[in-house]
Amino acid sequence: MTGRVVVVGSANVDLVVDVPRQPHGGETVLGGDVRRSPGGKGANQAVAATLAGGAETTFLGAFGADDGADFLLASLAKAGVRTDLVSRVESATGTAFIMVSPDGENSIVVAPGANSRLALSDEQLGRVATADVVLAQLEIPLDAVTAAAAARRSGARMVLNAAPSRPLPDLDLDVLVVNEHEAADLAGTPGTPEELARILRRRASAVVITLGAAGCVVAEQEIVQLPGFRVSPVDTTGAGDTFCGVLAAALADGRSLREAAERAGAAAALAVTRPGAQSAVPTAAEVAEFAESGTGGNAR
Ligand code: RIB
Repeated sequence: MTGRVVVVGSANVDLVVDVPRQPHGGETVLGGDVRRSPGGKGANQAVAATLAGGAETTFLGAFGADDGADFLLASLAKAGVRTDLVSRVESATGTAFIMVSPDGENSIVVAPGANSRLALSDEQLGRVATADVVLAQLEIPLDAVTAAAAARRSGARMVLNAAPSRPLPDLDLDVLVVNEHEAADLAGTPGTPEELARILRRRASAVVITLGAAGCVVAEQEIVQLPGFRVSPVDTTGAGDTFCGVLAAALADGRSLREAAERAGAAAALAVTRPGAQSAVPTAAEVAEFAESGTGGNAR
């Protein structure tokens, strides 16, 4: 694949613990040993765009001056993501606390640290202007998202994964990607995925609503539902990020939104069969094989 992607987003050290079930408020649950793994929605999406999507990808994010930053930058570099223009700020590198239950579900609390200090420089905005697709999420200041959208060159596409959910001003968006909960939050009302997609199309030229195992809804002029893949989930952490990274890479390669969403869905299905966020991102060859034959994951 060809095409350039610039990801503007967060990077977190993920501190992960397996729990027998997600605790209720006020409850203590004993879990397993803590694992440290590279994460953050932005960094995860950059790794996916490169590794599973095959795009030349730059990550623009903010890091502290600590070993967490070294750990995260090493993971990005190993995947082949360009990190030459990341920011260093006087704050701790972002950290996420993640509990994973046996059904593969997770709950996450993020301490944003350096991520909340990201402000794009002229040099960084210059790199944004070289992209075919600019991809952002909401673990960074909204000003950085707005600046990235404004800096894209004519013809380049702005894709926003509006996660985690938060109030959003009007932005100049080509593609909005959300899960069902984020879609209802943004729409300000519950509804079917099709109803929510119709409402959210006021915010972007196209909307993709991910539905986990049920696939996704793609809304452009028409609304279509793409089926999911049948796999046994091990850990769903970062599956949405794999989806977004691969979607952006495929769009940068000139694929239609529907084709891009099909490929992204296959990559995300493979990712949930593996533990971790960046560590679960499949290669482009694995995605191609899985999309064609439905094998290569733990498909039932
Ligand atoms: O989407 C998963 C990611 O959310 C984790 O890697 C964690 O860091 C949080 O940003």
